[in-house]
Amino acid sequence: MTSIAPSSAALVDLETDAVVIGTAVGENGLVVTGGAAEVDAALGGRLEAVLTALGATGKAGETVRFATLGTLPAATVLAVGLGPLAPPSAPLDAEVLRRAAGAALRALAGTGSVALALAAAPGSITAESVRAVAEGALLGTYSFDRLRTTSAKGLPTPVGALTLLVDGASLPLAQAEIDRAVVVAESVVLVRDLVNTPPSHLSPALLADVAVEQATAAGVTVEVLDEVALAEGGFGGIVGVGQGSANPPRLIRLEWRGGGESSALALVGKGITFDSGGLSLKPPTAMEWMKTDMAGAAAVLATVVAAARLRLPVTVTGWMPCAENMPSGDAIRPSDVLTLRGGTRVEVLNTDAEGRLVLADALVRAAEEAPGLIVDIATLTGAQIVSLGQRTSAVMGRDDAVEAVTTAAAATGESVWPMPLPPELRKGLDSTVADIANVPPGGSRDGGMLVAAHFLAHFVPNEASWAHLDIAGPSWNGGQPYGHTPKGGTGVIVRTLIQLAEDLAGPPSDQGSTIAG
Ligand code: BES
Ligand code: MN
Ligand code: ZN
Repeated sequence: MTSIAPSSAALVDLETDAVVIGTAVGENGLVVTGGAAEVDAALGGRLEAVLTALGATGKAGETVRFATLGTLPAATVLAVGLGPLAPPSAPLDAEVLRRAAGAALRALAGTGSVALALAAAPGSITAESVRAVAEGALLGTYSFDRLRTTSAKGLPTPVGALTLLVDGASLPLAQAEIDRAVVVAESVVLVRDLVNTPPSHLSPALLADVAVEQATAAGVTVEVLDEVALAEGGFGGIVGVGQGSANPPRLIRLEWRGGGESSALALVGKGITFDSGGLSLKPPTAMEWMKTDMAGAAAVLATVVAAARLRLPVTVTGWMPCAENMPSGDAIRPSDVLTLRGGTRVEVLNTDAEGRLVLADALVRAAEEAPGLIVDIATLTGAQIVSLGQRTSAVMGRDDAVEAVTTAAAATGESVWPMPLPPELRKGLDSTVADIANVPPGGSRDGGMLVAAHFLAHFVPNEASWAHLDIAGPSWNGGQPYGHTPKGGTGVIVRTLIQLAEDLAGPPSDQGSTIAG
């Protein structure tokens, strides 16, 4: 990954190819933000005039670039819009900075070295702003090129080095924030890479190999159950969903023991490496992006590994039920009955509602260890996209757990919204032959995301603290890149999950949140 370091050097002394400054929409049009003072001085106080002449407005995500023509060592300046001007007293919203840094680095793809003066106004530099700019910049450098042949590449080389400009007094704490930001960004990148990797290159067994490799390197305990062990263990949901595929299923257990013996947080992630729908086959265009259906499992892996790399003083377990959902002569049929872990019998009326089957097995297994909090993460329903759109994840479950998740999400800038579990929707899952059906008989789509959550709730002990995150839409960006979000796999929810683990670990003992400025 791109290297990143803080510096308090003056811009006139800094060897870098490009400098990023922030612009905003003020009352009378474009304004430049505090970090741009040195650039303005080098241009003889004409920075705003230059930018206005180039059509800059300061609106969020806008990037405008100009040549410095020898007035600074850096050949170019890139101005990135932050949107409406924040009140002078308030520190800039961290997610605004994160997105701006991401947009700037995307626009600068192919540049050798970049210095960011976004968080640099002396006195206004906070730990949060350094963290946000570092994360956003690192995430903005992302590209997924490993499956291109060398000859076809011809793509911009990734930015080699990032420098974050801060004042001298802020250097030590800026370094600490950057260290954390690197772990967070690499976690997001791991999820993006896994999601973008096609099913030809990522079967359940290969995903387990990646988990073992990542876990071992970070000091995380890892255990993999293969199809034989899964059958022996009574995991009828994972086995059932996986049985139509030539690539057999896996259940991966991860543990970072940073705190006590029992787990404070169990994360359970849906790991369908490809979702064709099975015999309830999806139409072709709906299948195009179904390599994203293991985004929950990838987020779980990345979070447990991050907890270990950050040495968080909390014990976190991760569960990744992985299978490929395919139609074949061996596949489960609509109306089949599966016996899940713990003995519950499920009537499978739609083989495309497979995520809840593998998750139910894993939730039962996770709850056997009585963790303090259980959070599952899944690309579970198209109904999530109907209700909240492509960018906002839904959280459902028990009040205390939902609140812990929304609090963590708010602190990271990820968009998560709580949704209800209306009791009357539960009876739609009553089965005429088994304990519960995986979809309402007759295929009603009413409240589909909430019905799916009801199904999961059936497998979580009543006394357990549990939240369910549906990230179906947000896991994948089918449109144009924006802010720090590229096309394809987005890596959503990892930042929230890392924050949640940190929240459970308790407040850091050694530092405040404001860097001296
Ligand atoms: N993996 C899909 C959900 C999904 C849709 C994820 C779009 C990402 C983007 C899930 O397994 C599925 O097929 N759900 C069905 C459930 C239905 C059959 C009750 C759906 O939402 O259509
Ligand atoms: Mn499906
Ligand atoms: Zn699915």
